[in-house]
Amino acid sequence: MKIIHKISQIREIIKDLNSSIGLVPTMGALHKGHASLIKKSVEDNDFTIVSVFVNPVQFGINEDFDKYPRTLQKDAQLCEKLGADVVFAPSVDEMYQDTKELTLVCPPYSAINKLCGKSRPGHFDGVATVVSKLFNITKCTRAYFGQKDAQQLFIIKKMVKDLNFDVEIVPCPIVREDDGLALSSRNSYLDENARKDALKLSAALKYSKELWQKGIRDKQTLCDSALKILGGLDVDYVEIVNPDTFEDWQENDKNALMLIAAKIPPVNTRLIDNMEL
Ligand code: PAF
Repeated sequence: MKIIHKISQIREIIKDLNSSIGLVPTMGALHKGHASLIKKSVEDNDFTIVSVFVNPVQFGINEDFDKYPRTLQKDAQLCEKLGADVVFAPSVDEMYQDTKELTLVCPPYSAINKLCGKSRPGHFDGVATVVSKLFNITKCTRAYFGQKDAQQLFIIKKMVKDLNFDVEIVPCPIVREDDGLALSSRNSYLDENARKDALKLSAALKYSKELWQKGIRDKQTLCDSALKILGGLDVDYVEIVNPDTFEDWQENDKNALMLIAAKIPPVNTRLIDNMEL
C-alpha cells in the first residue's frame, strides 16, 4: 500500500487503472467506524483510496482544527491491514493554494440552515468543497460515508445529484461500542467521566425509539424525553426529521430520524448521534 501526498501522484496512479475505484474520505484518527467503510470499499471495488485530510475549510474559527487528532502512521497501518491500495494524505497547501479566494461549493440554504449547519456556519460549504475536490482528484466510482453524519450524507447525496457527479454514494451504518456510544474520532478527547456523560446521547435516542415503538408520535413528548436524559450536557439540538427530505418531521410522515448534538463538559467536546425511530 502506498501513502501519497501529491495530487499529481494520485493522477499518475489512476491514469491507467481500468477498474472500479472506491474512495473513503476521512479526516484520519481512524476507528472501527472508518474500518467498516474501508472494508466495504475493498469488497465492492478493485481499488480503494482512503483520503486522510483534516480540512481547514470546514472548521469554524473557534473549533478544534489545531487540536484535531492526527495519527497518520497508525491510520496507514490499519488501511493496509484492511486491504486499501492507497492512502492519500495531502498537505493543506497541496489542497488549497489560497483558502481566502477559494471557489466554494455551497449547498442550498434550506439544507444548511438547521441542525449542525445552524451552529457551524460555513461547515457544509467546506465539506461539499473538499468532497468535490476529492471526487475530481480520485475519479472514484463509489464513495463511502458513515450515517452518523446524517446531515452531511444528505447534503453530499444532493450535491452529487445536483452537480451530476458520476459517483455512487454508499451510506454505511453507524458503528457503536458495546455500551452504545457511537464511534467518533472526537471520543479520544473524553476522559472517563466525560465518556460516561457521552453515553447519554445514545441512551436518549434509544429511549425515544422505545416510546416510538409504543406508539407515541407527539414530537414534543419524544424530544422532551430525550432532553431529560441529556440533562447536564450543553445540548445544541434534539430534532426529528423526515430522513428522505431532512424537513421537520410531520405526523403523517412514515419515517422519522431523531438527531442530537451536544457538548460534553468539561472539555466541551461536541458529539453528534442519530437513530431512525
Ligand atoms: O466526515 C468527515 O470525516 C469529513 O467531513 C469528510 C467527509 C472527510 C470531509 O472532510
